[in-house]
Amino acid sequence: MDIRSEQANDIATIRAVTKAAFAPMAYSSQTEAEIIDALRDAGALTISLIALDQGEIVGHVAFSPVTIDGEDKGWFGLGPVSVRPDRQKSGTGGRLIREGLTRLAKTGARGCVVLGEPGYYKRFGFDNHAALRFEGVPAEYFMAQAFEGRVPSGRVSYHAGFDAS
Ligand SMILES: CC(C)(COP(=O)(O)OP(=O)(O)OC[C@H]1O[C@@H](n2cnc3c(N)ncnc32)[C@H](O)[C@@H]1OP(=O)(O)O)[C@@H](O)C(=O)NCCC(=O)NCCS
Repeated sequence: MDIRSEQANDIATIRAVTKAAFAPMAYSSQTEAEIIDALRDAGALTISLIALDQGEIVGHVAFSPVTIDGEDKGWFGLGPVSVRPDRQKSGTGGRLIREGLTRLAKTGARGCVVLGEPGYYKRFGFDNHAALRFEGVPAEYFMAQAFEGRVPSGRVSYHAGFDAS
């Protein structure tokens, strides 16, 4: 399994893997592939990694900037993250997330947030921090980890690309 940054000719397969991964998910807006495209078009796809197995793309993870109380504080959001349905639960998502977080921290980012299942994301260092809030979801599904210093307080907003549909 190799992990590397996306290249232009990976884009169509990233779309297909993302759509296939989220298709069965009841909570999904089914717009995750469009969100990745919108982030890329806006220059906000800070990190976009693919997992390759024998040359085939089997997973993808994106990171993009977030604001806290409307300000850029050097924080980023993880997601969408997808693994092809026939390749889930074999460690690919975890490898993509760990590699993405390592690369993000090396860019000088101060921290990362994620919206998702606490049972999954807490294993990567994310935790609930009451002072850092995201509106519209139960607090336990919104998690953060600081790479440097403390988790700040405030209200997080994702990039406008997340409004894509
Ligand atoms: C979520 C996802 C990226 C994880 O990738 P993966 O390669 O299947 O995950 P890994 O193999 O690294 O980890 C598997 C472990 O995570 C757990 N897990 C996976 N998805 C989970 C979820 N939604 N909630 C809780 N646990 C989850 C598995 O039960 C397994 O647990 P174990 O290690 O205790 O056995 C993948 O399942 C996927 O593409 N899902 C559909 C899209 C999606 O929901 N993306 C995330 C939106 S927040």
